[in-house]
Amino acid sequence: MRPYVIIFTTTSIDGRLATKTGYSELSCPHDKVRQHILRAEVDALMVGANTIRVDDPKLELKYARGRSPLRVIISTKAELGPERRIFKGGNLVVYAVSPSQVTIDELASRGVPIRLFNGRVCEVMNDLNVSFGVNKVMVEGGGKLIWSIIRDNCFDELRVTISPKIFGNGRSLVEGEGFSGPEAPILQLLDSKLCECGNEVVLKYKNRASSRL
Ligand SMILES: NC(=O)c1ccc[n+]([C@@H]2O[C@H](COP(=O)([O-])OP(=O)(O)OC[C@H]3O[C@@H](n4cnc5c(N)ncnc54)[C@H](OP(=O)(O)O)[C@@H]3O)[C@@H](O)[C@H]2O)c1
Repeated sequence: MRPYVIIFTTTSIDGRLATKTGYSELSCPHDKVRQHILRAEVDALMVGANTIRVDDPKLELKYARGRSPLRVIISTKAELGPERRIFKGGNLVVYAVSPSQVTIDELASRGVPIRLFNGRVCEVMNDLNVSFGVNKVMVEGGGKLIWSIIRDNCFDELRVTISPKIFGNGRSLVEGEGFSGPEAPILQLLDSKLCECGNEVVLKYKNRASSRL
C-alpha cells in the first residue's frame, strides 16, 4: 500500500524554490521549526538528486526533537559524489532507474543500499512501505521530483510556505512538462495562516484526487 505522502516546501512569492544560481534561503526560523517537526513525524524524507547536488543537505533533525526519518534520494543514475554530506550518516536509501555497476558497487562499499525502480515515484512509495515499513513520507523537493509525483497523482497533501521574496527566475515549485488545461489538478485548501514571523503565509492543501483524507 502506498504511504501517506506530504509535499512540504517553501517558495518565493513568484513560486520559486530557488534562484537561477541555486540559492534557496527562503525560510524564517518558525518555518524551519515547522519543517523539522514534520520531519520528526514521518517515517521517510524524500528529495531529488539535484537537491543533494546543489544544497548538499544532511537532512537531519536540527530544530525539533524526535526520531530521524529514513532519508530517500531519487535519481536516474545515482551519480552523486561520495563527498556529499548526506553520506556521512546512516539511515539512507537511494532509488535509481539505471545506475551503472560502478555506481552500485561504490554505494554498496559505503553501506548505502541502492534499489532500482521504473521512474514512477509511486513505485518507490509502495516499495518504501513494503520493504521499510514506511507509512508516512515527506517530500521536500526539488521541483523536478515534485512534478513527477504530482503528474502521477502520488500525494495526499501539499504544504507550502510563501516567503516574502521574489526570485524572478530559477527552480519552480513544480518543474516538468506541465499540464495542458483542464486536467491540471485542483487542490482543496485545508488551512491557511499567517506565520508567527508575521511575514510568511502557511498554506495546507489536500489532493482532491486522493482517497486518503
Ligand atoms: N525551497 C525549498 O523548499 C526547496 C526544497 C528542496 C529543494 N530546493 C531547491 O530545488 C533545487 C533542486 O530542484 P530541481 O528541480 O533542480 O531538482 P530535484 O527535484 O531536487 O532533483 C531532480 C533530479 O531527481 C531525480 N528525479 C526526479 N524525479 C525522478 C523520477 N521520476 N525518476 C528518476 N529520477 C528522478 C533526477 O535525478 P538525476 O539528476 O540523477 O537524473 C532529477 O534530475 C535546488 O536549487 C534546491 O535548493 C528548494
